[in-house]
Amino acid sequence: MHKDCERILFTQEEIHQMVCSLAKRINEDYKGKNLILIGLLKGSIMFMSDLMKEIELDCKIDFICASSYGSGSTSSGRVNIVKDVSQPLDGLDVLIVEDIIDSGNTLNFITKYFKAKNAESVKICTLLSKPDRRVVDIPVDYIGVEVPDEFVVGYGLDFDENYRNLPYIGILKPSVYS
Ligand code: IMP
Ligand code: MG
Repeated sequence: MHKDCERILFTQEEIHQMVCSLAKRINEDYKGKNLILIGLLKGSIMFMSDLMKEIELDCKIDFICASSYGSGSTSSGRVNIVKDVSQPLDGLDVLIVEDIIDSGNTLNFITKYFKAKNAESVKICTLLSKPDRRVVDIPVDYIGVEVPDEFVVGYGLDFDENYRNLPYIGILKPSVYS
């Protein structure tokens, strides 16, 4: 385990199980639809690549990078598109792939953004959710697991752009960020 982690919250095996059960539901729900998985950079990269391997339907993929104004560990309601998707979304059933939903501000903005691009449907698949921190009440269709209000890193998730490469999800020691 990394020295900056307090403890491991989810092992690689536990993450794999969560990814497989999410994919199973998606495989059933999106039969006959025009699925496109859109990953939110950069946190979703490991989840996206593991999830898409378990999708048995024909699908497209794309990425979007959004940043919210304001600094620190909390996001504001104002979101900025840093890198947009690279194809039209008309008629496509968009499934947004995200690492973690916290306040909900980012996904609230991105959902509306994709609807305005004429997507047929827009749903959300997040590996982790921190329900206690929700500010905007948006429907999240697929949640891997709910987590307590602690700062987690690894499996794509960062603190200050570090720890994304850890293959497990760990709780960061508060001494690292306070
Ligand atoms: P929201 O707009 O407040 O829902 O912010 C969601 C984003 O905040 C996620 O995509 C992450 O980038 C970041 N975030 C929230 N909680 C954590 C955490 O515990 N570890 C790492 N990143 C987090
Ligand atoms: Mg993120």
